[in-house]
Amino acid sequence: MSDKIDILQLVPLRPEVQKELEARYNVHGKADFEKVAGIVRGCVTNGHSGPPPEMIDRMPKLEIIGSASVGYDGIPVEYARSKGIPVTNTPDVLNDDVADLAIALMTMTARRLIVADRYVRSGDWPRKGEFPLAYRASGKRVGILGMGRIGKEIGKRAEAANNTVAYHSRRPVADVSWKHYPSLVELAKSSDFLIVIIPATPQTNKIVNKDVMEALGPDGILVNVARGAVVDEDALVEALKSGKLGGAGLDVFEKEPQVPDALLGMDNVVLAPHVGSGTYETRRAMSQLVLDNLDLKFAGKPLLTEVK
Ligand code: 8YV
Repeated sequence: MSDKIDILQLVPLRPEVQKELEARYNVHGKADFEKVAGIVRGCVTNGHSGPPPEMIDRMPKLEIIGSASVGYDGIPVEYARSKGIPVTNTPDVLNDDVADLAIALMTMTARRLIVADRYVRSGDWPRKGEFPLAYRASGKRVGILGMGRIGKEIGKRAEAANNTVAYHSRRPVADVSWKHYPSLVELAKSSDFLIVIIPATPQTNKIVNKDVMEALGPDGILVNVARGAVVDEDALVEALKSGKLGGAGLDVFEKEPQVPDALLGMDNVVLAPHVGSGTYETRRAMSQLVLDNLDLKFAGKPLLTEVK
């Protein structure tokens, strides 16, 4: 019998942090859930891997859920809290990566870089000559839906490229000077690019709907680095097909890893497989934060990043 604390691990951490985790705890995978449910005191997960309430109910000794993600829409936070189990997430450490990706998707879509890359690789350049012109991604109007930590980083980057920044959120945010739009449709009407970075909640489900897309318009580009659920994907496909929306840069989808077939054939769309935080540096920092929170919990100390 070891005196190490038992942990249920639903997703792996980066190898260097995983090693530390395994050195300090008895780590059990999901396959062992039936055997260890009664003894585990911690659970390592991410924003889309649970544990659902039924699993939480079966872990009477559970004291903490540590998520390697900033979003926690797949974790029943309220339910866990009602049972006295805190949930931790990984804010801040991924702000730069997600903001970088948002600007990259915006630029790549406007400048048609995927199509341009294909043009070179296919040998079309010498055959067909100069590549058709694209659109600028600077000196324009960037609207941001959501003005949390990542939204602010996106705004800074957009502003550095001489764009005018404005945003929509339920309430104006105190420490930013960019224009706040109480109406999302009005923001979309006044934007060339709309970048979505709000959490998925029942209130934000499909908040980017047909009206918002049509307000963004035939020359507008939608960028989503938040969650697929906040955009009406059917409406998006329709708007792109009909030309009512100009283009889209998407890192997230409603039913990941499934992406609507219709999007796959569109040249005005840039697609990424949910890689917003997907760098060695950031994933390591996220993993470390999960481990630090576990260690603090079991040392009886205050948590670093509890979801409130
Ligand atoms: C993923 C994310 O969770 O932090 C978030 O909310 O969406 C991403 O970082 C990541 O893929 C989980 O490993």
